[in-house]
Amino acid sequence: MSFKKMTLTFLSALLAVSCATHVLGVGDALIVNMTILQSATAQGAVCLDGSPPAYHLDRGHGSGIHNWIIFLDQGGWCNNTADCLYRSTMHLGSSKHMNQQSYFTGILYNRSEDNPEFYNWNRVKVKYCDGSSFTGDVEQVDTENKLYFRGARIFKAIMEDLWSKGMKNAENAILTGSSAGGLATILNCDKFKSLLPNVARVKCVADAGFFLDGKTIAGTSYIEETYRSIVNLHGSAKNLPSACTSVMEPSLCFFPQNVVPYVQTPLFIINSIYDSWQINNTLVPRYLDPELVWDHCKAHLSNCTLSQHLIIQDFGVEFLKAFDGLTPSFTRGYFLTSCHTHLGILQTGFWFSPTSPRLLHKTIGEAVADWYFERARFQYIDPYPCARDCKV
Ligand SMILES: *[C@@H]1O[C@H](CO)[C@@H](O)[C@H](O)[C@H]1NC(C)=O
Ligand SMILES: *[C@@H]1O[C@H](CO)[C@@H](O)[C@H](O)[C@H]1NC(C)=O
Ligand SMILES: *[C@@H]1O[C@H](CO)[C@@H](O)[C@H](O)[C@H]1NC(C)=O
Ligand SMILES: *[C@@H]1O[C@H](CO)[C@@H](O)[C@H](O)[C@H]1NC(C)=O
Ligand SMILES: *[C@@H]1O[C@H](CO)[C@@H](O)[C@H](O)[C@H]1NC(C)=O
Repeated sequence: MSFKKMTLTFLSALLAVSCATHVLGVGDALIVNMTILQSATAQGAVCLDGSPPAYHLDRGHGSGIHNWIIFLDQGGWCNNTADCLYRSTMHLGSSKHMNQQSYFTGILYNRSEDNPEFYNWNRVKVKYCDGSSFTGDVEQVDTENKLYFRGARIFKAIMEDLWSKGMKNAENAILTGSSAGGLATILNCDKFKSLLPNVARVKCVADAGFFLDGKTIAGTSYIEETYRSIVNLHGSAKNLPSACTSVMEPSLCFFPQNVVPYVQTPLFIINSIYDSWQINNTLVPRYLDPELVWDHCKAHLSNCTLSQHLIIQDFGVEFLKAFDGLTPSFTRGYFLTSCHTHLGILQTGFWFSPTSPRLLHKTIGEAVADWYFERARFQYIDPYPCARDCKV
């Protein structure tokens, strides 16, 4: 269905899309300790600096005991040695620099009032320390810089460890993640399915990971160059879905719009049509705005000039074109908002709260659960016809 048709279909539905902050009381916080997977180093499944990978696990209980949510953390990418070297000195490249404890919120929260469908599942947050959305695998170590490119091995090693911790009995499982972790969710979705029991209901939910192969305001393909350099540096090509890499340049298969048609496992996509990261980096990268004339507009849409508004609108039109080919079914769901935001599902106020953004009266949490359990086919595009600031 085209965007226009979709818009007309849904425009009549009165949608209350409001976004607001829902603050957790301090006493309610769920803090989960980190598990460092020391044994992964034997398989060379290591962070950029060679340290072992890590995750946080909060065990399920009751009816959720055989159900698993695996959340892949966010954090961009590194596309060159200097950049990766810098990351190797911080939490995004080394478990030596990670926080031992993590707050579990949103889709990972354990309170039924805030996460009614998944609160008692086994919930895992996988730390991101490879810089390649869990796709890299270069055997050779960059000895001069002592850098390892092993994201795909980390993914496999952690899944195998969780298998032995009970995932082998999984009845329901969801791979999810935000931003670079949302992209990792798409790119690793079929692999995840293959690592779980055949009988399990396995689906993927990608949040803020639909990075468009969009042009900059100068008409150049900056994000395409960036992805090409990531895929080359990390040796990612062999870990991207082969049905895609056999028909186009492998680095193009880093783009959801190209690879999603080849993903076999059911996939739900949550994204803003006017994703603020993509406006900041894909549409108006810093190098094209040395005077920072876009900064106020990037921070608050209300500060944009008319011409800036029109450029952002055009980006949204391009973004929605990528959804033209996705036909409604249980295997493809989406929830596309017009909020000018980036991340979502780890924020309780975004995921499921009285003030969460809603499409067709559903919060993201409800839409995902309905789709996952096949109560309804969900393909929601916010009919609000332009980008707007939402507080989340
Ligand atoms: C988490 O780690 C802290 C500090 O090391 C410790 O006090 C606490 O008991 C641990 N919590 C759990 C659930 O193991
Ligand atoms: C969630 O986990 C925290 C920390 O373990 C615990 O104190 C709290 O009681 C749990 N909440 C529910 C509703 O189970
Ligand atoms: C690689 O990343 C750096 C730092 O994030 C960025 O400045 C550079 O433009 C990127 N290179 C390409 C080819 O995208
Ligand atoms: C986008 O850029 C603006 C202005 O620099 C900044 O305030 C905002 O946090 C950025 N958003 C993201 C998601 O990077
Ligand atoms: C940008 O917008 C915010 C919120 O609407 C406002 O508080 C601020 O003053 C604006 N800044 C500029 C430079 O226009």
